[in-house]
Amino acid sequence: MIEFSDVTYEYPAAERGITALAGVSLTLAPGEHVAVLGANGSGKSTLVRLANGLLRPASGSVIVDGDDTRDAAGVWDIRSRVGVVFQNADNQIVATTVEEDVAFGPENLGVPVPEMRRRVDGALAAVGLTGLESREPHQLSGGQKQRLAIAGVLALEPDYLVLDEPTSMLDLQGRADVLAAVEMQREAGRGILHVTHHLADAASADRVIVLDAGRIVFDAPPAGLLSDKSALAALGVALPPIGRLAAELRARGVSVPYEAMSAESVAAAL
Ligand SMILES: Nc1ncnc2c1ncn2[C@@H]1O[C@H](COP(=O)(O)OP(=O)(O)OP(=O)(O)O)[C@@H](O)[C@H]1O
Ligand SMILES: [Mg+2]
Repeated sequence: MIEFSDVTYEYPAAERGITALAGVSLTLAPGEHVAVLGANGSGKSTLVRLANGLLRPASGSVIVDGDDTRDAAGVWDIRSRVGVVFQNADNQIVATTVEEDVAFGPENLGVPVPEMRRRVDGALAAVGLTGLESREPHQLSGGQKQRLAIAGVLALEPDYLVLDEPTSMLDLQGRADVLAAVEMQREAGRGILHVTHHLADAASADRVIVLDAGRIVFDAPPAGLLSDKSALAALGVALPPIGRLAAELRARGVSVPYEAMSAESVAAAL
């Protein structure tokens, strides 16, 4: 379990600090997929950097399976258990070929060669990069680099996967591939924290967290999101047509369940 308890984080600034997160408490259990949504600057990437100990909370605590990220001695161990795909894929490329790049992490963990082959091949297949093993990473497109960064973390087989907008540069097929790979990780018992700008990505999560100016304004299963006005306001999104219809019907006294998010389920309530 990753547990954030009343976490506050401030970036140092010239005159006064920038409070990026304030009083954030949340949990991520093994086998759980939690999506994180929020506007630009709401604190999503800060949350990601706190999850693996890259940043330490100013107050409150982040505990990973019993280990506090503020204990400097354990931070490398925590980083091997919490695999992070950072927002900028370019900064994560470390080797001169695609294959070596994916192998880099497991190599450092001392994974034996036959097992390494399996992990590298599996990770590249999961993100649709099979066949590009000997390419130089800088020759890849932006979306391919993003896939490479994801493969690198999949090959680590960490207990928790933390993904910061991993599909922002991917086309529809690419997003579907990555979401399927993430779903397989969840089924394998890994906890997934998935920062995304796509509301649709959050629909398959067990829980959705919405950040607004460093505070959690929503933490519940996705079914409730499209009828939560303050969460939607924080995201700057309008209610989708079917949600609007459901809200109008409710206002007229028709009892439409909050989970009803398809035309069929709204019709069934009539
Ligand atoms: N390295 C930094 N130094 C100073 N302030 C920072 C730094 N990184 C982020 N911030 C500030 O902290 C706040 C939260 O930033 P963060 O990157 O966590 O937001 P985000 O939700 O990931 O945004 P985006 O959707 O643009 O990726 C913002 O006000 C941002 O300007
Ligand atoms: Mg960010």
